[in-house]
Amino acid sequence: MNSDISSLRTEYSKSQISESEMSADPLVQFSKWFEEALNSDQLEPNAMIVGTADQQGQPSQRTVLLKGYDNNGFVFYTNYKSRKGLQLEKNPKISLLFPWYHLQRQIIICGHVSKLSKQQSEEYFHSRPRGSQLSAYVSNQSQEISSRRELESKLSEAESTFENQEIPLPENWGGYLVTPTSLEFWQGRENRLHDRFFYEREEDSWKTSRLAP
Ligand SMILES: Cc1cc2nc3c(=O)[nH]c(=O)nc-3n(C[C@H](O)[C@H](O)[C@H](O)COP(=O)(O)O)c2cc1C
Repeated sequence: MNSDISSLRTEYSKSQISESEMSADPLVQFSKWFEEALNSDQLEPNAMIVGTADQQGQPSQRTVLLKGYDNNGFVFYTNYKSRKGLQLEKNPKISLLFPWYHLQRQIIICGHVSKLSKQQSEEYFHSRPRGSQLSAYVSNQSQEISSRRELESKLSEAESTFENQEIPLPENWGGYLVTPTSLEFWQGRENRLHDRFFYEREEDSWKTSRLAP
């Protein structure tokens, strides 16, 4: 047996949620917490756990980096033919989770995706370091490969093909916009009596409520 983890316990007492301080607009509230995460010691504050589900309802998750947000929603980039991409093609429902343990906070967002325009994806793709562009070009994300060597030789081939040239946007690579339908802000509190503040979209406005921990 490995060591006893049942006694691992941290008290949460860094902050609290009071209704009067929460914005009526969840995107404004997200921005406030995101800035606080950026200015904290939280590692990879823009890393989020992205949940999708296949046709049988089997959920799967993976970490993805948030690359932008505004009043319309949240943006990330990936391969449209990856496992998540294929699932989103059939079922555009998605969840995002920001695990800001350092701040004893979590935000969970539910919504649906739409693809960004090719031009938006092009712009971001070409802003990436050349090495990342090449890796995206040679990687059919989530497909089986025979060996690491296969990937590295595809990379060397692409390096010489595109020497002194712009790397083209790979056919299946691009961004998604997540349009949120609900957002939950969670703040850890003493004795596990945590705060949860929930926003749910109602036509043109947001309904807010407090949830039991
Ligand atoms: C910190 C971190 C950041 C990541 N960022 C991205 C990203 O922005 N886009 C992406 O496609 N994969 C990213 N990945 C890799 C994904 O977690 C995942 O392995 C990949 O997208 C394939 O997932 P899928 O097979 O479920 O489609 C990241 C992984 C980690 C650990």
